[in-house]
Amino acid sequence: MCGIVGYIGKNNCLPLLIEGLKRLEYRGYDSSGISCLHQGSISTFKKTGKIVNMEATVPKSLSATIGIGHTRWATHGGVTDENSHPHLSQNNKFAIVHNGIIENYKTLKTHLENDGYTFRSSTDSEVIAHLLEKNYTGDFEKSFHKTLSLLEGTYGIVALSLDNPDYLMIGRKGSPLVLGIGNDEMFVASDVSAFLGHTKQVVYLEDNEISKLSINNFKTTDFTLEEKKKEIATIDWDISELNKNNFEHYLLKEIYEQPESIRRAFAGRFMESIGTAKLGGLNMTPQELINIDRVGVIACGTSYHAGLVGSYVLEELARVPTAVHIASEIRYKNPIVDKNSVYFAVSQSGETIDTFLAMKEFQRKGSRVLGICNVVGSTIPRESNGGVYVHSGPEISVASTKAFTSQLTVFYLFSLLMGRMKDVSQQKGIELIQALKMIPEQIEEILKSTEKIQSIAKEYSKLDNFLFLGRGISYPVALEGALKLKEISYRHAEGIPAGEIKHGPIALIDKNTPVIFIVPKDHLQEKMISNIEEVKARGGRLLAICTPNNQRVKELVHDYIEIPECDPLLSPLLSIIPLQLLAYYVAKELGCDIDQPRNLAKSVTVE
Ligand code: M6R
Repeated sequence: MCGIVGYIGKNNCLPLLIEGLKRLEYRGYDSSGISCLHQGSISTFKKTGKIVNMEATVPKSLSATIGIGHTRWATHGGVTDENSHPHLSQNNKFAIVHNGIIENYKTLKTHLENDGYTFRSSTDSEVIAHLLEKNYTGDFEKSFHKTLSLLEGTYGIVALSLDNPDYLMIGRKGSPLVLGIGNDEMFVASDVSAFLGHTKQVVYLEDNEISKLSINNFKTTDFTLEEKKKEIATIDWDISELNKNNFEHYLLKEIYEQPESIRRAFAGRFMESIGTAKLGGLNMTPQELINIDRVGVIACGTSYHAGLVGSYVLEELARVPTAVHIASEIRYKNPIVDKNSVYFAVSQSGETIDTFLAMKEFQRKGSRVLGICNVVGSTIPRESNGGVYVHSGPEISVASTKAFTSQLTVFYLFSLLMGRMKDVSQQKGIELIQALKMIPEQIEEILKSTEKIQSIAKEYSKLDNFLFLGRGISYPVALEGALKLKEISYRHAEGIPAGEIKHGPIALIDKNTPVIFIVPKDHLQEKMISNIEEVKARGGRLLAICTPNNQRVKELVHDYIEIPECDPLLSPLLSIIPLQLLAYYVAKELGCDIDQPRNLAKSVTVE
């Protein structure tokens, strides 16, 4: 969603702000803008569309040492130049960038208008700039504090003041902000990728914190002005991970990174000789783990699908009932929380507002919530009661791929750990570890069929209304395959439990309906073959994801893509790979904006 970057230092901020905004492009946006202090006034440039549109309006000769920038993903007010950030106060004394939603902006706006303030945009954010000016009595810090105390809703705000060129004011409530500590220069951004090329030293702001950022130092207080001691953390990944290397798109790069990202997810977490796993971050004693009698998962989108796979694995290996909840639904449902339950908040970004707020609701009811997240230092892991990082490395493409398979890997590890405390024998545990360790090589094997998948995709891109069918543990894979296709190729797609096809969806089938069957070698294979027969009899265009020896399936369908045989419980790690590639190549064939699909944002930080 919206992205923020700010700079104060010895260098010209304009190229740094633009570079930072480009690094944030992956979050999804529809307009961008920057403001800087230049020759006694605030110069502002904003434009809809890609950052290059806005960049083209910035004079090459312009130089400034303090400035702020923003990429906007419209919520309040259409996609227009005026609604883009930064917003300026009435007399152009203050400029602000804002992520989040000001819920009481209408009331504030009415008061401001009654006081003679004129609004240039139809956003909720503009009130902040006017309030800063209205509350200003010569002390920017004070006016910032006073302004924030009037706001209801969520925000990450960075403000620039014409009369106070030595510092930026920054406030956070529900929308992430991180400071970058350099030499004679400081950054602030909504995520570290904006400035990682310049410093790896960072300070994460917590909710209800305000920072004053000067060229060589920062001071953080809470809303009561009490000073907070902040730790400087070091980012342990590199800017090169943010590059596409030789891949045409981040999505393809990230699909190809999966052998490595899965290895990273399980590295150092096996206790192979006794067939179990160790997950230090859970903060739970063995007794507390044994006492778990229910597991719940809260998540959205792809992370929700990972949770669904996780529920099959946990119930199978650990025999623990596991319920998976869509975060935006469960949080308004007055969830029933059991004393011996543990909940997992699963999120690549660690910032998804629905997952975060559902987590808070569960915690309020006394529950332990553990995070399964990718972005280190993000809100969910910091506010959870413990958890596990999946260590996929930065995932830039809006469509999630490698984070999904890493989330699955963590569910396998947790299920193994729990399972070994309950039903699973040492031998079975050892076999599972061995099977998991083979997965990266098996994915490399699947990646060798990329050319074949590309040519299948060429044919299928001419079709619309895709059905993805799977049973058991392959049903969430069907959901995820359908989600990948729809989000990047804009083709309609549905994931359906294959057994349900007769209860309605079979009515959709005609010769132009592409139907994709996920048929790993497992106990439901025969049932899937019956479903293929049923669909074939009605004329669908059939594609199967199946194992090499499955002659019957191969003879029934028009096209097939092979995946190696593996332990049936692990099959989602393999069967999702061809579906990711299929979605990628269909989208490419259709000329879609693969890494930044229309209307989508990488981390959904507003409800
Ligand atoms: O960062 P999160 O995992 O919490 O994000 C959840 C969803 O927004 C995300 O998975 C979304 O569905 C992706 N676009 C899927 O590719």
